[in-house]
Amino acid sequence: MLKSKIAGIGMYVPENIFTNEDMKQYMDTNDEWIQERTGIKERRYAHRTEETTTTMGVEAAKIAIKRAGTTAAEIDFIIFATLSPDYYFPGCGVLVQRAMQMNEIGALDIRNQCSGFVYALSVADQFIKTGMYKNILVIGSEKHSFGLDFSTRGRNISVIFGDGAGAVVLQPAQKDGQGILSTHLHSDGENAEMLAMYNPGTHANHWVNDKVADFNDAEIADMFMSKEMIDKGQNFPFMDGPAVFKKAIVKFPEVVVEALSQNGLTTADLNMLIPHQANLRISQFVQQKLGLQDHQVYNNIQKYGNTTAASIPIALCEAWEQGKIKEGDLVCLAAFGSGYTWGSVLVRW
Ligand code: COA
Repeated sequence: MLKSKIAGIGMYVPENIFTNEDMKQYMDTNDEWIQERTGIKERRYAHRTEETTTTMGVEAAKIAIKRAGTTAAEIDFIIFATLSPDYYFPGCGVLVQRAMQMNEIGALDIRNQCSGFVYALSVADQFIKTGMYKNILVIGSEKHSFGLDFSTRGRNISVIFGDGAGAVVLQPAQKDGQGILSTHLHSDGENAEMLAMYNPGTHANHWVNDKVADFNDAEIADMFMSKEMIDKGQNFPFMDGPAVFKKAIVKFPEVVVEALSQNGLTTADLNMLIPHQANLRISQFVQQKLGLQDHQVYNNIQKYGNTTAASIPIALCEAWEQGKIKEGDLVCLAAFGSGYTWGSVLVRW
């Protein structure tokens, strides 16, 4: 069967740098706490109105398409991973199709938060392997800054997340042994509410006893976003940090080993692990657990924070641009996040 390869990669981060010192203007926090617990020194925040999740994705996509030696007109499918779409619906995939004036190709949005890019790549890989598509654009992009709680109440989450985008173009591999060797996807919904944004959502509705009840407009609006929800901060993401941390440090190494062992390989064969940039302490724990050397793991959370679906393609792009990933290298992408969902992609570059 055909294999798919990453033929081009690009990234885009907003110019605006927001440091840990800048955070202190809004909440009771400090640089030492943030760096010690997360490794983050600064993150990028998109322009409030001029940059959206889609526009950032498009900028990353332009670079990926050029580096793949193709054009927007040749792209035959779009997959867009994000948890911060421009609109509640439709998804960002169609907005990319419009912005890049692409043909009337399929556009799919993926909602798997931190493992969104790994899931997106896995879906794209299946389409290439079956021969259905030949040029798939896969984007991970996030604009977290639009909806973080910048009061002290939200400090455990708000200091972590940043904005940015990464993109790749997947094509059929030409050389034997090159390309995506395997992908591994998992979920466990038991703790879905441990890292989540509950509102607005359809967990409440205006049906009572299977009939549309006689609520007025204000009451219906209240079901989506009531004053009580806002007062409790339920319009912002919620995270039980220690619970997420405990699960992440088990599932990250597990899914890397799963990818390697399915291909008869070991950690000694790995040239580069690109972990989702959740937290530097998580990456360091995973590195230690797997017995990897510093040169086998790439981290850039210090500069960008956690950019969720964008973190892997941004890190992969930087590592590649710095010459840390070369043809023939064995590269593992691994992610864990909200859902919980986690996964890995093993690539022979
Ligand atoms: N600045 C200063 N103090 C803060 C703070 C901040 N930004 N955020 C939380 N604190 C305080 C807490 O209020 C708490 O104070 P208390 O002891 O007086 O109650 C203390 O720091 C410890 O809080 P805790 O939440 O237990 O800290 P932690 O060591 O677990 O670190 C995280 C918090 C969020 C950094 C950590 O749990 C984590 O990284 N979890 C995984 C998150 C993650 O990866 N999410 C993305 C998933 S992909």
